[in-house]
Amino acid sequence: MPEQKNYDSPEYDIFKKKIKSMTGLDLNSYKNQIHRRVHMLMQRWDVTSYEIYYEIIKKDDKKLREFLDYLTINVSEFFRNLPRWQDLETKIIPELIKTRGSKRLKLWSAGCATGEEPYSLAILSSETGLSCPPHVLASDIDEGAIKIAKNGVYQKKQTINILQERITKYFTSIDSETLEIKNDVKKRVSFERINLIEDGFKNDFDLILCRNVVIYFEAETKRKLYEKFFKALRPGGCLLVGSTEQIFEHRSIGFESAGPFIYRKPQ
Ligand SMILES: C[S@@+](CC[C@H](N)C(=O)[O-])C[C@H]1O[C@@H](n2cnc3c(N)ncnc32)[C@H](O)[C@@H]1O
Repeated sequence: MPEQKNYDSPEYDIFKKKIKSMTGLDLNSYKNQIHRRVHMLMQRWDVTSYEIYYEIIKKDDKKLREFLDYLTINVSEFFRNLPRWQDLETKIIPELIKTRGSKRLKLWSAGCATGEEPYSLAILSSETGLSCPPHVLASDIDEGAIKIAKNGVYQKKQTINILQERITKYFTSIDSETLEIKNDVKKRVSFERINLIEDGFKNDFDLILCRNVVIYFEAETKRKLYEKFFKALRPGGCLLVGSTEQIFEHRSIGFESAGPFIYRKPQ
């Protein structure tokens, strides 16, 4: 097993390059915790070199999934951190409608994991009377997560944060343990694979949600991403980040604060 602390070894560099060309994931843009996670997985599989580990995940789809899941941590929830959704519903979306002068808002869930966030946004967009199209854009680097998201099937225990009336309205029961998002909600969302670090963004967004995605990003990577989001928003548009992800340097990027964890591009 390679030394844990040895995250700048030539072998690890080669591994990172190969992973990047296979998955688009640039491990250099992430903090060293990611390196520890690679090691934990190697230990779990009793693998002693990066080279062998790469060969395994290249050939075995299930192990590749496990690698990506573990590294990018796909965990999500419907209406995660409810007070922020209440802010969106009662304050931010009505303001966006006013400043856009239309109910045709462009919304983006960036780092959407297995779909809970964009579907929550789609439910909110329907309840606040937003027009569709435009669809809620939902993107992630991880194609496996996007596939699960598109399917829209969830365990009942994953929906405990959702009000019962919303469950009845927006989900169909498949069996005693499983629910599926109804087509009316699904058709409000369009999924795309976007690597937030490497890819260019569309623009003219009214609202971008990027929550619990940047935890392992280096400070510099985070800043560049927030600058890209700033460009992608229309004047008056807002960025909502996760509840531990306050952007301290938001003013120097150009944002003003629009509420807890919400940043607005001035008009
Ligand atoms: C913890 S989930 C967050 C899901 C949702 N936003 C939420 O807050 O519940 C983090 C997601 O970020 C995605 N991610 C990590 N790095 C990314 C990158 N460079 N580009 C796009 N998505 C990325 C992961 O694949 C994962 O699905």
